[in-house]
Amino acid sequence: MLRVEGLSAGYDGVPVVFDVSFEVAEGEIVAIVGSNGAGKTTVLRAVSGLVRPMSGRIEFMGRDISGLPAHAITSLGLVHVPEGRRLFAKMTVLDNLLLGAHTVPDEKLVSVALGEVYEIFPVLKERAGQKAETLSGGEQQMLAIARGLMSRPKLLMVDEMSLGLAPILVDRVLDVLTEISKRGVTVLMVEQKVEKALEMADRAYVLQTGRVVLSGTGEELLGHPDVKKAYLGM
Ligand SMILES: Nc1ncnc2c1ncn2[C@@H]1O[C@H](COP(=O)(O)OP(=O)(O)O)[C@@H](O)[C@H]1O
Ligand SMILES: [Mg+2]
Repeated sequence: MLRVEGLSAGYDGVPVVFDVSFEVAEGEIVAIVGSNGAGKTTVLRAVSGLVRPMSGRIEFMGRDISGLPAHAITSLGLVHVPEGRRLFAKMTVLDNLLLGAHTVPDEKLVSVALGEVYEIFPVLKERAGQKAETLSGGEQQMLAIARGLMSRPKLLMVDEMSLGLAPILVDRVLDVLTEISKRGVTVLMVEQKVEKALEMADRAYVLQTGRVVLSGTGEELLGHPDVKKAYLGM
């Protein structure tokens, strides 16, 4: 579904990710894991068109999307839920969700999407009329994901879903990605919570100072001595 080959990208002409290659097949949960500053967010930004690749090729559903504007990439069904949620704090939960569906042309499809989202996140239905800023951190993160789902993506890219959440919430919020995947949405997740991400992912890539240094199934990487030492504190 997504194939990234030899991607270099960065800021103001200075690359921070180098020659990154990975792929995501339909139906998979793929994780990109690594420490703070490794370049995970930059990779997602390059894929979703927010940062222009310096070199490399990005193919989505067989089509070269490198250099396309972000909105064009979104309308192909590749949706990026950015780090830090970016909700409209003063707007209601429902209005935030409806904004996520602005690319959906058909009102019937919007209500189908809303029904699905409320099934996955019943709490958002209960709180539909509340301002987004009144939600807890975990609920806000769920709203950010739900808003991404409202456009009915084929591939959902989620950046650091666990960031800023209390440890007891991290598992619950991340488990939502497994649920979304079961409903037929392919998932590319980026996480600093390496252990949990590897437990959930079908396959994963370890990014270190801008380069992919390891890849394999989640299970293989969980058992890899370098991963254990660097990320699992063993
Ligand atoms: N907007 C930006 N301008 C300049 N440098 C940036 C910007 N965003 C990130 N960087 C730098 O790029 C590197 C990779 O950052 P990032 O992709 O955010 O890593 P991660 O998501 O893995 O924490 C870091 O050194 C960071 O300081
Ligand atoms: Mg990041």
